[in-house]
Amino acid sequence: MQKNPIVAFLLIMAFGIGLIFFLSVEGVEKKKEIAEGHGEGEATEETAEFDPEAFAQSKCIACHGGDLTGASAPSLVDTKLSQEEIAEVLTNGRGGMPAGLVPAENIEAMAEYVFSLE
Ligand code: HEC
Repeated sequence: MQKNPIVAFLLIMAFGIGLIFFLSVEGVEKKKEIAEGHGEGEATEETAEFDPEAFAQSKCIACHGGDLTGASAPSLVDTKLSQEEIAEVLTNGRGGMPAGLVPAENIEAMAEYVFSLE
């Protein structure tokens, strides 16, 4: 039984090569998954950055109503203002409408969203 050590060695080698092959194929598939997952992750990050709708739901509904069609403050859905005028109201406030609710860097996105409600 002198062959036995070599047979065992060859078996281990074959197993090792098989394992490497399996892991690399598996890895390529995982890479695709990770790449796709990462794409989605980026999309969520972008929305997390500034989501005018979510922002309105947390900061504007108290006065403008749950669906922004007006409560103690006038409706935002049928405002006659232009997008620039909306941005101007958000920046400087007007009457009972407080200034500085929307961070300066997000005013444009917010104005665009409010304008799109019309
Ligand atoms: C404290 C209450 C309050 C909050 C909170 C508030 N508003 Fe107002 N808003 C008002 C009032 C009151 C007016 C009417 C001002 C006037 O008559 O001059 C107004 C007016 C406006 C107008 C002008 C509408 C028009 O047709 O003339 C816009 C646009 C507006 N608000 C956007 C927003 C947005 C966007 C938010 C959330 C970031 C928000 N408001 C949060 C009270 C509020």
